[in-house]
Amino acid sequence: MADTDLTLPSPPARGSTAAPALPGPPPGGRQSVRPGDQGQQNQGQRDQGGQTGPLPLPPHPPREEAPERPRGGVQVLDEPRGEAPPRPQGGHDLPEGWLPCPKGADPAEWVLDPTLPEPKIRIRHLTKAFGSRVIWEDVTFDIPKGKVTVVLGPSGTGKSVLLRHLIGLLRPTSGQLWVDDKNVPSLKNRPLLEVRKKYGVLFQDGALFGSMTIYDNVAFPLREHTRKGEKEIKEIVMHNLEIVGMSDAAQLYPGEISGGMRKRAGLARGLVLGPEILLFDEPDSGLDPVRTAFLNELILDLKERLESTFVIVTHHIPTAKNVGDHLALLYRKSLTLAGPKERLLSSDMPAVRQFLRGSTSGPIGMSEEKDSGDESAEYDPDAQGLEDTRDDEALPGADRPQ
Ligand SMILES: Nc1ncnc2c1ncn2[C@@H]1O[C@H](COP(=O)(O)OP(=O)(O)OP(=O)(O)O)[C@@H](O)[C@H]1O
Ligand SMILES: [Mg+2]
Repeated sequence: MADTDLTLPSPPARGSTAAPALPGPPPGGRQSVRPGDQGQQNQGQRDQGGQTGPLPLPPHPPREEAPERPRGGVQVLDEPRGEAPPRPQGGHDLPEGWLPCPKGADPAEWVLDPTLPEPKIRIRHLTKAFGSRVIWEDVTFDIPKGKVTVVLGPSGTGKSVLLRHLIGLLRPTSGQLWVDDKNVPSLKNRPLLEVRKKYGVLFQDGALFGSMTIYDNVAFPLREHTRKGEKEIKEIVMHNLEIVGMSDAAQLYPGEISGGMRKRAGLARGLVLGPEILLFDEPDSGLDPVRTAFLNELILDLKERLESTFVIVTHHIPTAKNVGDHLALLYRKSLTLAGPKERLLSSDMPAVRQFLRGSTSGPIGMSEEKDSGDESAEYDPDAQGLEDTRDDEALPGADRPQ
């Protein structure tokens, strides 16, 4: 498969460096609370160093075909009329209300762990290489619906590359990536555009059009992708600017506001079309601790209001701990561990422990190339690092000025 970035359907305004605005329908229905939110995680990754790790994936049973349905008007008495029987799900029954395994997906891996929330995005054996350079391989994990998943990992491990796969801006070398029942890498233009409509994206620098006011930036997706009149657009824009605390800056240009404000304006633009999935690539980079805490508070607030699925890439461990429901750690060209936050926080895997503590002690080095291949490298709690002492300070709003 080609390595080329796939072009977006709506190019940004002339002369702009901004990222495209992605349209999106109103958010889907409310996410019901499912049993097992705190349950064990599923994901098929390597258990490094023989430490406590993720449960291995269930063994692959031979692929089963959906039972043949009777034809010719014959009705099976105990089967509801007109409904296909649920497809077998490997070692797990399909939990009630979950999306049945679509054609083309592996039933044995559609449900990795029925005790966890239903996935919105399913990543299965995804590998990405640029030419001969493998970024990550055989990545398998779920991004749960209506939750905040934080993707962590040292610089250069391919977090941003992963985000671009989620939205179909990059194609994997192999593997599948299901958003609901659509395998994104297999989609052609029109259906791919439909999947992209589910997303709102906040890029690292807000990616605003420099030649437009904040108001016009936020209005852009609405003007571009809907038939709404200016009156309605104004209501939506001002509502979203208010959510991110930017109402007073509507008539300013991106060059006239701070980096933190640009991020919030970018967030407002990502929200105007009511996305089902919000992707944030390092929303807190370049922000001071107070602004970071406010931004985290805003994300938590949005999570309550929107019931969207959030995927956040960050280097900021307190953000991951305070905002994330699920965490995923990319390291050494693969997914080290993914699952409920508590699971990663209590993991004994050296790379997970080291990363979550920001310690210099462990297998992670200054650069990917220098990372120790010794996964079982001892974690030294006395080694220099950020450790956990900042957690309380970084609780969203904990340091809000009185
Ligand atoms: N279009 C591309 N073509 C070739 N290589 C690329 C492309 N995009 C990214 N890469 C490479 O993929 C690797 C992972 O990049 P990526 O930006 O995803 O890292 P990251 O984990 O987001 O790092 P950081 O935390 O510093 O943002 C890098 O080595 C980068 O150079
Ligand atoms: Mg990045």
